[in-house]
Amino acid sequence: MKVLRVAACMVLTLVLVALAAWAYLRSGRFDIRADRRPGGLEQWIVSTLRDRSLARQADPITPPEPFDTPMVARGALIYGDSCEICHGGPGRQAEPFAYGLHPVPPSLDSPVVQDDSDGEFFWVIGNGLRFTGMPAFGSLYDEEDRWAVVAFLRRLPELLPAEYEALISGGGGDAAPVDGPYGDPAAHGP
Ligand code: HEC
Repeated sequence: MKVLRVAACMVLTLVLVALAAWAYLRSGRFDIRADRRPGGLEQWIVSTLRDRSLARQADPITPPEPFDTPMVARGALIYGDSCEICHGGPGRQAEPFAYGLHPVPPSLDSPVVQDDSDGEFFWVIGNGLRFTGMPAFGSLYDEEDRWAVVAFLRRLPELLPAEYEALISGGGGDAAPVDGPYGDPAAHGP
């Protein structure tokens, strides 16, 4: 009998907790704004989801070929077109709107970002990161282009502003022309 009463209490508590969570979600009290730092619990949930999901999905991905200079040159053109507005580049700031995102887009040459594996870079570029302002570029750039961006990101930490300027304006040697973001959508993987 006592066991039954304890079980009933536990079920009741669970129902009350679920009801309280539902009432909170419906109440409008959660502050959805992007321009204030989220609370510790939200940050923990989002960063855990992000880190675990990335590790699980991206760890098996490895570059199909070693990175070379033409890949870096091609990746630089894409970076200048699609990434610099949010992440900035050597000698260049991100656009002011990027500072209104939470999290603020990190500099991709920083050691904590460069710690990510090539597969993680590739995966993030293709699929984006939910709960952040990082868009998915998989429908704009095919796999070859996305690996070229990864090759470029690996060069980023050692680039001087003048070298960066030369690369993003097409002075990077024999880069093939970039057909994204308006190339054939059927040719682009997920
Ligand atoms: C609209 C803004 C925006 C654009 C454009 C953008 N990003 Fe991001 N990116 C973000 C934000 C915000 C984050 C931070 C996500 C986080 O902290 O979890 C991010 C994170 C990343 C990360 C993961 C960094 C880490 O913390 O490990 C990589 C890699 C990345 N972006 C690459 C790119 C590349 C390459 C492009 C261009 C093809 C690009 N991003 C374009 C906003 C943007």
